[in-house]
Amino acid sequence: MANSCFDPSPEEGEHNAAFDMLADPFRRRLLSAAILTLGGGALAAAGVPLPSLAASAGRAPASLHDFAGIPPSTADAVILPDGYTASLLYAWGDPISDGPRARADAGDDAAAQMQQAGMHHDGMQFFPFVENGKPSSTHGLLCINHEYTDDGLLHAGGMHDWSAEKVAKSKAAHGVSIIEVRHGKDGWQVVRPSVLARRISADTPCRIAGPARTHPAMITESDRRGEVVLGTVNNCAMGVTPWGTYLTCEENFNGYFKAPSSPSADQKRYGLTEKGFGFRWHEHDERFDATRHPNEVNRFGWVVEIDPWRPDLPPVKRTALGRFKHEGATVTLARDGRVVVYMGDDERFEYIYKFVSRDRFRAGSPANTNLLDEGTLYVARFDDDGKGRWLPLRHGEYHQKGALTAANGFTSQGEVAIRCRQAADLAGATKMDRPEWIAVHPESGEVYVTLTNNGKRGTPEAPGLNAANPRPENLFGHIVRWREHNRNAASTAFEWDIFALAGDPRNADPNKQGNIRGDAYGSPDGLWFDPSGRLWIQTDVSTSALNHGDHANLGNNQMLVADVRSGETRRFLTGPNGCELTGITATPDGKALFVNIQHPGETASERADPAKPTAVSSWPANQFPEAVGGRPRSATIVITRLDGKPVAA
Ligand code: FEO
Ligand code: CA
Ligand code: CA
Repeated sequence: MANSCFDPSPEEGEHNAAFDMLADPFRRRLLSAAILTLGGGALAAAGVPLPSLAASAGRAPASLHDFAGIPPSTADAVILPDGYTASLLYAWGDPISDGPRARADAGDDAAAQMQQAGMHHDGMQFFPFVENGKPSSTHGLLCINHEYTDDGLLHAGGMHDWSAEKVAKSKAAHGVSIIEVRHGKDGWQVVRPSVLARRISADTPCRIAGPARTHPAMITESDRRGEVVLGTVNNCAMGVTPWGTYLTCEENFNGYFKAPSSPSADQKRYGLTEKGFGFRWHEHDERFDATRHPNEVNRFGWVVEIDPWRPDLPPVKRTALGRFKHEGATVTLARDGRVVVYMGDDERFEYIYKFVSRDRFRAGSPANTNLLDEGTLYVARFDDDGKGRWLPLRHGEYHQKGALTAANGFTSQGEVAIRCRQAADLAGATKMDRPEWIAVHPESGEVYVTLTNNGKRGTPEAPGLNAANPRPENLFGHIVRWREHNRNAASTAFEWDIFALAGDPRNADPNKQGNIRGDAYGSPDGLWFDPSGRLWIQTDVSTSALNHGDHANLGNNQMLVADVRSGETRRFLTGPNGCELTGITATPDGKALFVNIQHPGETASERADPAKPTAVSSWPANQFPEAVGGRPRSATIVITRLDGKPVAA
């Protein structure tokens, strides 16, 4: 809240170059123009993943680096191949600007937490400043999602003596960080103070835009018009637009709400339960009590757009992109310049979606701001013959299992957006094995999606196998890819195949061996192409499965690099105990690779014992002495090469 209005004092402006650039209208225009008019190749060079544009850059396809894949590890540390090094940039509790540093005992209050890094870093994007007319590789803004909290670690005493103050701190540790970072003589550092630094939390006012804006199901006691919602939660993966904004995606929003003991059909379809995920916010903030405020939950589950350069503008929930458990929102452009957004709904047997804007992106046009409000939302059907269709979720459309009309409960496009899963059910979309991140190859435009796992596939009472989800009890997950018809991202037809089935080749059960060429992994989640077309894969084996049983040989969660032409895959990074790897972005020159280590020290129950906060991990303080200790901390690290060459370019 403190950062939702941009009102810096003149003194700040005199001493901060970032503020100069923002506050001076001419320089601000220069910055905008530089970001918006560089064209495809330069945008790709700026680290903005616009694959169809980058294809014109004429870059030769890259093979894997010359690093040797590292072995699996159970060490409580980040481990990299020889020749690479990691530094710690931004851990939970670090000040975003000139606020207080975290206390080792987690005794910080909610007001302090609002000035500090939230918990559970997830999707992330580097936005370069423009210096000397070029996107900088030494100075930028980082947008970082804070997906959720472990309240056993977040508070001194954990969840004992649960209070309004603890709820306020938990909400403050959610949302997004926007920090200013710069490379100097001491390596990469957070710039403090910075007038561009801000925290967005579960209480920050967000504007509602698109077809669900003002819909009766979006209206609550505190928002009689259905136009403004407080906060964003469970911000998982992300996207970046060609006009330089950040998309943060609300995933497991259902877990924050207390539902009636007998939830409605709509509440059940989105996974609401009486107990939620145990966040207990409703005990001190009644808007999370769906028995009292049933419409509040409709205001979550969206893609939220943030302009990192404009702290004066509120985040905007873009409802045209549909309401579901959004993993990420990967943006590319169709041949004619329309904006295409690929999105996964991460739950077992849920769907893959894409949005195609009505209007075209035009470099430098102010109209780009609202491109995500008008267009067509589609859901994917993967046919067993290797072909697929994008099925339009358009109000009034007739589908295999019923029409999106009032007779089936869809009175408007707003209702299709809000009850997106039910609309996709009628369309006859393919139920997938937990769609996570989506990445678009920078030259071919082929689209890759991680399907992280689905232990219930093919079990009694659960949907059976299909060609795109071919394994029963899919413990290890897989990666599917598709090629849009005519290499046009706006096409409604595509062809698909399976890039890799994850698993352990040493497992005695052929169903669990997978077919990875190279280093084995399980539960692929984060996915990113570097500008040369190397595929970076981040894993999220749950802490209840890590390092035993079928996962005994695979070690801690990790990051790998794949050559998508040969399929060869090498393990590049292993993470500390109890963590997952998620979030990856690079500077335009590729020399700095930013990666997030999420929830080191997580227990199998996903809530730590506050009496033994370091029972599983002491990272990062055990590896980086400058870190605040006391608790394991999610953190952003920066990976560079000792020889100064690019890590990912
Ligand atoms: Fe937040 Fe599906 O990972
Ligand atoms: Ca994820
Ligand atoms: Ca995951």
